[in-house]
Amino acid sequence: MTARLIDGKAIAQALREDIRTQVSALRAQGRRAPGLAVILVGADAASQIYVRHKHQACEAAGMHSVVHLMSADSTQEQVLAAVHALNQDDTIDGILVQLPVPAQISGKAVIDAIAVAKDVDGFNPENLGLLAQRTPRLRPCTPYGVIKMLEHEKIDVRGMDAVVIGQSNIVGRPMALELLMKSCTVTICHSQTKDLPGHVARADLIVAGIGKPEFVRGEWIKPGAVVIDVGLNRLESGKIVGDVAFKVAAERAAYITPVPGGVGPMTIAMLMQNTLEAYQHRTRT
Ligand code: GUN
Repeated sequence: MTARLIDGKAIAQALREDIRTQVSALRAQGRRAPGLAVILVGADAASQIYVRHKHQACEAAGMHSVVHLMSADSTQEQVLAAVHALNQDDTIDGILVQLPVPAQISGKAVIDAIAVAKDVDGFNPENLGLLAQRTPRLRPCTPYGVIKMLEHEKIDVRGMDAVVIGQSNIVGRPMALELLMKSCTVTICHSQTKDLPGHVARADLIVAGIGKPEFVRGEWIKPGAVVIDVGLNRLESGKIVGDVAFKVAAERAAYITPVPGGVGPMTIAMLMQNTLEAYQHRTRT
C-alpha cells in the first residue's frame, strides 16, 4: 500500500473532544446543555445502531439527548406531531428523523416539518438552498465531515477534477455542492452514467457513496488520486467493506479513507458540531 490513510476515527475523536470542552465551559457558566432529539420509526437493525451511536455521542459530549422510538406502523400524522412537539421544545436544539422511514410516511414531509433552525441533518430545502448559494448554515453531516477530513490533511482540492459517485440527497448532492464551494470541477455519476470507469480514471478526487460493496474497482483509480469512501457494507461473511475495492485502490491512490474508521465517525462528529452550532445560533452566543 502506498496511499496515506486518512484516519477519520482520530480526526473525529479530536473534534468531539473539542466539542465536549465547549459544552463543559457552557455548563460551568450555568447554561443549559445543547439538546438533540432523534426520532426512529420502526426497528431497522442498521438504523437502531446508528441512533444508538448518536445518543452515546451526545452523552459523551455532555449534551442532552432524547430518543423517540416510534412503532413501524406509526402514521405520518403521528410522526409529524412528534416533530412539531420537538420544534416547540426549548431544551431541544437539534432534531433528526432517522432515514429511511417506513413506506406509509413521506420522508420529505417529515424533513420539511423540522424547524429550519433545528435541522441538524441540513436536509431541509432552506439549508440545502443556502449551501447551493455558498452561504451554508447547517450542513449535511457526511459531506461536511468529508470536507473536514480534507482540510485536516491539508489537501488543496482547488481545481481538482472531483467525481462524486451517487446522487442521494444525504451524500451525493450536498457533497457535490461542498466540493463546488471548494472550487473543484465536479461530476456526479450515478446508476445511469455511461462509462463510470472512464470518469473515475480521470478523477483527482473520488467520493464514493453508492452503498454497493467494492463496486469501484481499484484498477480504475488514477495514480495519485484522493479516494474518499462513504460506503459501509456488511458482506455475508460479516466483514465490513466500503464502496471501493480497498487493496488495489490503496496501491494507486495518494490518500484513502479506511472502512470502517474513515468517514463514518466523522458523520457523528459533525452531527455534534451542528447541534452545538444550532444551540449557539438559537441562544445567540
Ligand atoms: N440515514 C442514513 N444516514 C442518515 C443521516 O445522515 N441522517 C438521517 N437522518 N438518516 C440517515
